[in-house]
Amino acid sequence: MADHLQRPHVVFLLLCCLTSCLSIPDPRQRDALIHQEASMQTGGKVVLSDAEQRLDTRLFRMKQEEMAKADFPPAMHFFKARDLIKNSPIFSLLQKMPKGGALHLHDLAIADVDWLVKNVTYRPYCYMCVTDNRSIRFIFSSQPPKPLQRCSTWILLEHLRAKMVNVTELDNSIRNNLTLFTDQDPEVLYPSQDVIWEVFEQKFLALSGLVSYAPVFREYFYQGLSEFYTDNVMYVELRVLLPEIYELDGSTYDAAFALRTYQDISRQFKAEHPDFYGVRAIYTIHRKVNVSVMTGAVERAIKLQKDFPDFMAGFDMVGREDRGKPLWDFRDALSLPAERGVLMPFFFHAGETNLQGTEVDQNLLDALLFNTSRIGHGFALPRHPLAKDLSRRRGVALEVCPISNQVMKLVKDLRNHPAAGLMSEDHPMVISSDDPAMFGASGLSYDFYEAFVGFGGIRSHLGSLKQLAMNSIRYSSLTPEQQQEALAQWQKKWNKFVSENAF
Ligand SMILES: *[C@@H]1O[C@H](CO)[C@@H](O)[C@H](O)[C@H]1NC(C)=O
Ligand SMILES: *[C@@H]1O[C@H](CO)[C@@H](O)[C@H](O)[C@H]1NC(C)=O
Ligand SMILES: *[C@@H]1O[C@H](CO)[C@@H](O)[C@H](O)[C@H]1NC(C)=O
Ligand SMILES: *[C@@H]1O[C@H](CO)[C@@H](O)[C@H](O)[C@H]1NC(C)=O
Ligand SMILES: *[C@@H]1O[C@H](CO)[C@@H](O)[C@H](O)[C@H]1NC(C)=O
Ligand SMILES: *[C@@H]1O[C@H](CO)[C@@H](O)[C@H](O)[C@H]1NC(C)=O
Ligand SMILES: [Zn+2]
Repeated sequence: MADHLQRPHVVFLLLCCLTSCLSIPDPRQRDALIHQEASMQTGGKVVLSDAEQRLDTRLFRMKQEEMAKADFPPAMHFFKARDLIKNSPIFSLLQKMPKGGALHLHDLAIADVDWLVKNVTYRPYCYMCVTDNRSIRFIFSSQPPKPLQRCSTWILLEHLRAKMVNVTELDNSIRNNLTLFTDQDPEVLYPSQDVIWEVFEQKFLALSGLVSYAPVFREYFYQGLSEFYTDNVMYVELRVLLPEIYELDGSTYDAAFALRTYQDISRQFKAEHPDFYGVRAIYTIHRKVNVSVMTGAVERAIKLQKDFPDFMAGFDMVGREDRGKPLWDFRDALSLPAERGVLMPFFFHAGETNLQGTEVDQNLLDALLFNTSRIGHGFALPRHPLAKDLSRRRGVALEVCPISNQVMKLVKDLRNHPAAGLMSEDHPMVISSDDPAMFGASGLSYDFYEAFVGFGGIRSHLGSLKQLAMNSIRYSSLTPEQQQEALAQWQKKWNKFVSENAF
């Protein structure tokens, strides 16, 4: 810049300083503002006990050390960060922490993929075929199964493995077909949202042949619950697809059978683990279906709700919002319960997009118009002031799933997740893990780590974690009495956690 332009500027600055040096803001006022703002965040008003304060001090130190590292995990892709997180002292503390409930999970991606490969695909009668674009499909069958369109002939895995000297490569390729997690560069393998969503759906199709085989269906769910229980999650709200479950002889069962199986296994699990509070199910259907299929699904949901009043929590849709139909397309079907005077809580995925102003971007407002109980993801919420305000005033919590949003390419650096702003103003929210097995995670702790260390910043503290855990009960579909009971059970676990880790 030319000198003659700069000079008046300098004179002006000097003048300013002379006059305003006398009016430096009052440092006490500054402290008060900082304090006031910090108290507005999630957990900002939680009063910590002495023991909790000691634990908080420890956590704060750990977080500062974590942030000073060259490879800061929340800034990296989760696939590359996972091993770093595994070794983080904050992560091991979060694993031990009683996290309350996991409210946003899908039934086909909650359990260890290696168990599917090493245990399930090694069972007798397991057939595999390879589709013309190199995805795979499975079926268990006592007879040679009928060929599938656009898939190779069915091969019995037992025969295939018997012919091989070394099965490791085959097992690895099967595993890679069942999860998005990869050792390769995820940016190269999944260059766009279109690609990753297509691959994601193919992997679900591969999984579903394995998991909808009746014996595996039961064990997979039990295995999934075990992983959440081990990760100190005491309650689960599961979005369920209720696929047709089949037996070796090809006989099949309906949706009610699948739901009853989930209920039975949940009861069994709770009986064997009395400090586990339980499970409730949200019936889901893919949003790509047409209006008449959607209407049928809502009718089925109403029937299931009537037949399983304690176990069924409500209804939702799955699949990519950006390429799917907006909620508004289904307004007639979604109005059925209200028209018939039956209660059908909705738990809509909405705003899982970073495209502003598209038709599906209206899903947030539409979900609220349909009185949704919570919002799945709500990634786009900060761009919708009215939806945000309604969600806050009505206590419609967001189910924030940081790792899912990163892997599905909505955000790269988890410090920049939109929930950062929402958390700083205590917007109703819970943390969940969506499809942990698909993302190479398990349970809830990895997502808590990303939330707490990533978008929670240096400011979120033990009070924030406590609030998030309590939110998961408060915003659950449990009745007020059940919430009281669950909260009391959680508080006992929390106190034990604090006393064991505060030093
Ligand atoms: C397969 O998993 C089931 C359920 O977890 C377990 O009971 C069984 O022992 C496992 N079998 C093998 C061969 O690992
Ligand atoms: C792969 O094949 C399936 C059908 O077998 C098809 O639905 C899908 O679109 C194909 N995906 C790609 C990426 O071509
Ligand atoms: C089998 O193959 C894998 C991968 O190619 C290799 O790492 C492993 O050492 C092999 N195992 C044996 C026993 O040869
Ligand atoms: C899926 O399995 C097929 C057959 O084994 C293999 O060719 C393909 O590379 C696998 N896909 C991935 C993503 O590993
Ligand atoms: C809706 O989809 C179903 C299943 O794909 C199909 O059978 C039906 O004909 C479709 N209905 C309309 C009105 O397009
Ligand atoms: C949503 O709730 C309002 C107020 O309770 C009610 O009037 C309306 O019918 C509900 N809408 C639906 C679609 O359930
Ligand atoms: Zn989801």
